[in-house]
Amino acid sequence: MRKNIVAGNWKMNNDLSQTEALITDLKRESKTSNAEVMIAPTYTNLWQAYQTLKDNTIEVIAQNMHFAENGAYTGEVSAAMLKSIGIKTVILGHSERRAYYNETDESLAKKVNAALVNDMRVIFCFGEELKDRKAEKQDAVVESQIKNALFHLEAKAFNKIVLAYEPVWAIGTGETATPEQAQDMHAFIRKTLSEKYGSEVADSVSILYGGSVKPANAKEIFSKPDVDGGLIGGASLNAEDFFAIVSAF
Ligand code: PGA
Repeated sequence: MRKNIVAGNWKMNNDLSQTEALITDLKRESKTSNAEVMIAPTYTNLWQAYQTLKDNTIEVIAQNMHFAENGAYTGEVSAAMLKSIGIKTVILGHSERRAYYNETDESLAKKVNAALVNDMRVIFCFGEELKDRKAEKQDAVVESQIKNALFHLEAKAFNKIVLAYEPVWAIGTGETATPEQAQDMHAFIRKTLSEKYGSEVADSVSILYGGSVKPANAKEIFSKPDVDGGLIGGASLNAEDFFAIVSAF
């Protein structure tokens, strides 16, 4: 079912006491809205965050996971481990993971499979770099990222998949895609899904926009018909800003 979603990706920010403080602020700012609200703290604080927000509507999600169930993968965390502390959703394929940790469409396809086998929901991220946009190759890049990592799936898997279009040139740069650029790409993504899986599946998948979403621009971006929410980095580290974005729905 297509839903509005606002997810905060905290990245490698906030130690335990900062996590507790931000969650206290989030609880205070939290208002009823038409969007599902999620936060992704770092691994070491997931358990604490989950326990603190267990009876709250804010869902605690993970930023990444490995594709194997267990084994000799020093420093990695599996879906089963995340599930065992109550985590039901994971972000996969963030551009920082692709750029700094060599994540590829191939390894991401395995991660998506592992998440689905474990009945977890996936927020799958993708997006073009500045050089692609300058060369007007953004559609081709995005299409191949989606096809390579997701198009081996059966249609029914898409009720566990949320897509997040994040143009790399807009992440953490203060530069946002215009609402029209976001809408054009989201419509293209839906068309790509529809060609493979039919319009019913394409219309049921939530497609989030990510890249310098702020209280000042959220309303305009979220008002576009194919934009179903946002993946928020920097602005999710401040409870007031984050809920100002959530309230844009
Ligand atoms: P940003 O990050 O909001 O700080 O641009 C977005 C993201 O990386 O998901």
